[in-house]
Amino acid sequence: MSRRSLSSSPPRDIKRPRLIPLTPDDYRNGVMLAPMVRSGAPRLGPEMVDKAMVLAERVVDPISGTISYNGKQERAMFTCHPIEKPYLIFQVGSADPDLAVQAARVVMDDVSGIELNCGCPKPFSTHAGMGAALLTNPDLLCSILTALRRELPPHISVSAKIRLLPKQEDTLSLVERIVNTGINCLTIHCRTRNMRPRERALIHRLKEVVDFVKGFGGDVAVIENGDCVGFEDARRIRSITGADSVMIATAAEANPTVFSPTPLTNLEETFILPYLRLVRVLSLSTWSARGRNITCKYLDNHWASTKFCVSQFKARKSANKALREAVIKAKGYTDLDALVGTWTGDEEFTAIKASIEARATAPPILLPLSEDTLQPQSQSQGMARKSRPDRGQRKTRERRRPTDYWEEDRRHFPGAGT
Ligand SMILES: Cc1cc2nc3c(=O)[nH]c(=O)nc-3n(C[C@H](O)[C@H](O)[C@H](O)COP(=O)(O)O)c2cc1C
Repeated sequence: MSRRSLSSSPPRDIKRPRLIPLTPDDYRNGVMLAPMVRSGAPRLGPEMVDKAMVLAERVVDPISGTISYNGKQERAMFTCHPIEKPYLIFQVGSADPDLAVQAARVVMDDVSGIELNCGCPKPFSTHAGMGAALLTNPDLLCSILTALRRELPPHISVSAKIRLLPKQEDTLSLVERIVNTGINCLTIHCRTRNMRPRERALIHRLKEVVDFVKGFGGDVAVIENGDCVGFEDARRIRSITGADSVMIATAAEANPTVFSPTPLTNLEETFILPYLRLVRVLSLSTWSARGRNITCKYLDNHWASTKFCVSQFKARKSANKALREAVIKAKGYTDLDALVGTWTGDEEFTAIKASIEARATAPPILLPLSEDTLQPQSQSQGMARKSRPDRGQRKTRERRRPTDYWEEDRRHFPGAGT
């Protein structure tokens, strides 16, 4: 029996989205959520690598339509819903073109694009030649992207997420090779492999890279990643770098509503309860292809992952901490029943579906790039900044406000943010 034969059809009330290929334009004018294991996947560790995905079992929840790719012990490694497919890119870790293609084929019907992770500095990636190790092995990196582009159907976009290399000229050489593989989009995390997450991203280096890619005349979107704290901040970063879009990780982990021009502020009051309802929800039994009885929920979130995510949500000093403390003490979802109330999550799920559906006809959310896109005063000035911040710059990002960045960038890019 094939892996998909048992439960691959969506439930009757879930429409399959139309198959609309992503183009580089779809990567433009956006503020995107960055890939994040731990926050987006149930456990720490190297789950999203090609070998694991090749063996994953695809299970569809018959009520919600949620699709889970389950690994060992039938825990979901990757969960998605058909409604998010037009906006969903699957990122894979790989050091092998054939395995990357095999993994991509496993998930490609549920996503719009496949991205190669070329930035993860963790040993579980790099020791196997994956993630940031690819940055110093451009032949392998490009052979994987070439294989993905050649072997996947044209409606599946192919992209890469890299980091800056210590030297700008090496970054440009790498980018040139990557762009020539025919990918649709390149995300650049503006930190080097050895930089710590709390060091300030080197976004001043990106403008030259963006101009370089545009100079090829090819159609590759460039996304900035690093230090963006929200919608307004994305406008600032975009105006400095000229990037097509901006991608947010840690700020979104702290407050998943930062993509909105009017993000929620008091998450204890507004966000955590609905989030808890959504991630646990219905305990529905279905039969897996392996013949065992398993449980699917809307998001199939492992309790440890839910707890981790809640612990990352930004707290306000004045906030009522009772809920947060209850989550920290709880050993499982049932410990929260009294606080959270009815566990259906249906309302939250319906609201999310409606808002995603509305986007199909809405204008792009972002960021028209203004005519007066800012240029650094001189290239040498931009390049001269140190790759490691001095002591004064080594504030944690949590302590910095967007306006701090605006002030600094005004000094380097007069007119920034106007
Ligand atoms: C919890 C966590 C998990 C991450 N997982 C991934 C990952 O799986 N793939 C990846 O390319 N980057 C990953 N990153 C890096 C982010 O995508 C992003 O490049 C980095 O955090 C810089 O963006 P920021 O300054 O907005 O945080 C992760 C970051 C965090 C905080």
